[in-house]
Amino acid sequence: MTEKFYLTTPIYYVNDIPHIGHAYTTIAADVLARYKRGRGVQTHFLTGTDEHGQKVWKVAESQGVGAKEFVDGIVPRWKKAWEVLNITNDDFIRTTDEKHEKTVQAFFHKLLSQGDIYKGEYQGWYCVTCETYWAEGELKEDMEGRKLCPDCGRQTDLLKEESYFFKLSKYQAPLLKYIEEHPEFIAPAPRRNEVIQFIKQGLHDLSVTRTAFPWGVTVPDDPKHVVYVWFDALINYVSAIGCFQDDAQFNKWWPADVHIVGKEIVRFHAVTWPCMLMALGLPLPKKIFGHGWWTVEGAKMSKSKGNVVDPIVLAEKYGVDVVRYFILREVAFGADGDFSYASLVNRYNADLANDLGNLLSRALTMIEKYFDGKVPAMVGSPDELTQELAKLIEKTPGLVDQAMNELSFSDALGAIWQLISQSNVFIEKQAPWGLAKKGEIEKLAQVMAILFKVLSTTAELLSPFMPITSGKIKSQLNLGGDKVAKGEVLFPRLQK
Ligand code: MSP
Repeated sequence: MTEKFYLTTPIYYVNDIPHIGHAYTTIAADVLARYKRGRGVQTHFLTGTDEHGQKVWKVAESQGVGAKEFVDGIVPRWKKAWEVLNITNDDFIRTTDEKHEKTVQAFFHKLLSQGDIYKGEYQGWYCVTCETYWAEGELKEDMEGRKLCPDCGRQTDLLKEESYFFKLSKYQAPLLKYIEEHPEFIAPAPRRNEVIQFIKQGLHDLSVTRTAFPWGVTVPDDPKHVVYVWFDALINYVSAIGCFQDDAQFNKWWPADVHIVGKEIVRFHAVTWPCMLMALGLPLPKKIFGHGWWTVEGAKMSKSKGNVVDPIVLAEKYGVDVVRYFILREVAFGADGDFSYASLVNRYNADLANDLGNLLSRALTMIEKYFDGKVPAMVGSPDELTQELAKLIEKTPGLVDQAMNELSFSDALGAIWQLISQSNVFIEKQAPWGLAKKGEIEKLAQVMAILFKVLSTTAELLSPFMPITSGKIKSQLNLGGDKVAKGEVLFPRLQK
C-alpha cells in the first residue's frame, strides 16, 4: 500500500482579498505537499473559501448585491493568487458548493437525530467581525462601558435567539484524554498547552445555528435557521473528500494528516472540530499545526492602516520563489514574525544573490573554463576537505527530511543553506584557480565533480520551496546532457 498524505489550509473568508498572511499558510502547505509528492507519497492538498456568515452578508448588502453574486465575484481573485504563487492544491472547496452544503446538512441531521444537537435559546455578546459569541465575563469594556470583543476590540451586540446547540460539554473529558494520550496532536507545544488550559476551564455547549440573517447552509427541516459559519466551515475538510457521499474517496483520505492553521484559530480546530468528529464516531485529524502571525514593519496588518502586503505585487517585483523562500526562511514556523522590505532585500542579496547565485555561477564558470563544460569524473582519492563536503552532501537530505516532518521549514532551508555556504567556503579553501595554474588536474577534477554534486543535490532539495529556481539550476547543470549550460544570473543583486 502506498503511503498517503492529506493536508489542508484554513478556508479563507471571501470578504477579504489575499494578503501575505494568507499566502504564508498556503505556501507552507504547498511546500509540504510538493515535498511529500516528491517522495512518492500519494498527496491530497486542499484549500478553499469560507463564504457564509453574517460578515459576508453585511458586506454584500452594503454593496447592494446578492450574497452569492458577491462571493462569486471574489473567489476568482483567490484562485488567481494561488496560481500566481505556484500553489499546487489538488482541490479548491467553496462552502457554497452544493456538495459541501449536502454534507453539512447530513452532518447536522445525524447529530440532531442522535441527540448531540438540541434546540434551545441563546443569549450572548456577538462580534460580527470574528463571527463569535462571547460570554459576559470574557468581554473587554471601553471607557463608556461598551462591551468590546476581547479578540478584535470591536463593539459587540447583545443577541438573543432561538438556536440549536451542539453538546460540546459532553466531549470535554474524552477530548482531554485524547490530547493527553496524543502529544503530537497539537503543535507546536505552546499551542497544545493553551488548548489544554482552555478545555480544563470547562467546555460549554456551542450555539450552532443563527436566525438573524439568511446567508448560510439551511438547517434541514427548520429553514429559518442557518448553520453557524464555523460549524459549516470546519466540515469542509470532510465534505471536500466525499463524506456522506463517496465512501471510497472519503476512506482513502480521511483522517487528515495535518490541518495547517494560524494560531488564532487553533481553538476551533483543536476543540470544536475534534468534538464534532467524535460525536460522529470518526477518527480525528493526526495533527493541528498552529503557526505564528506576521506583522508588517512592526505593526498589525489592517486595511485601515493601509499596510496590507499583497503577495501578488511582491511576486511581480521580486519573483515568486523569492517570496516563497523569504517567508519560510525568515521565521520558524510556529513563531511570530515581522515582514519588512529591508529584511526581504537583505535575505535576497545575502542568501540568494550571494550564497546560492554565486555558487552556481562560479562552479559552472570553472567547469567551462577548465574542462570545456564537461563535468569531470571523480577519480583518485579525494583530500580531506572534499571528503568532508561529500559527507555533508550525504547528510543534508536526512536533515531536511527530519525538519520537514516537523514542519520546521526554516530549519530545512537552514540545512540546505549550510551545504551552500560550506561549498562556498570550500571553493575559497581549495582555490581551484591555483590548482589549475600548478597543473594539479586530478585534484581540480575532484573539486569540480563534488561542486557539481552539491548543485544537483541543492536543486533537488530546493524544488518544493523554489520550484522555478530549482528548474533553472537543473537546466544550467544540464543533467544527463553532455556539457553544463551556464545561463542567466539567477538573482541579480538588488539595491537597498
Ligand atoms: N474562515 C476562517 C477559517 C475557517 S477554517 C475551517 C478564517 N479565515 S481568514 O480568512 O480569516 O484566514 C485566517 C487564516 O489566514 C489564519 O488562520 C492564517 O492561516 C492566515 N492569516 C491571516 N492573517 C495572518 C497573518 N497576519 N499572519 C499569518 N497568518 C495569517 O479564519
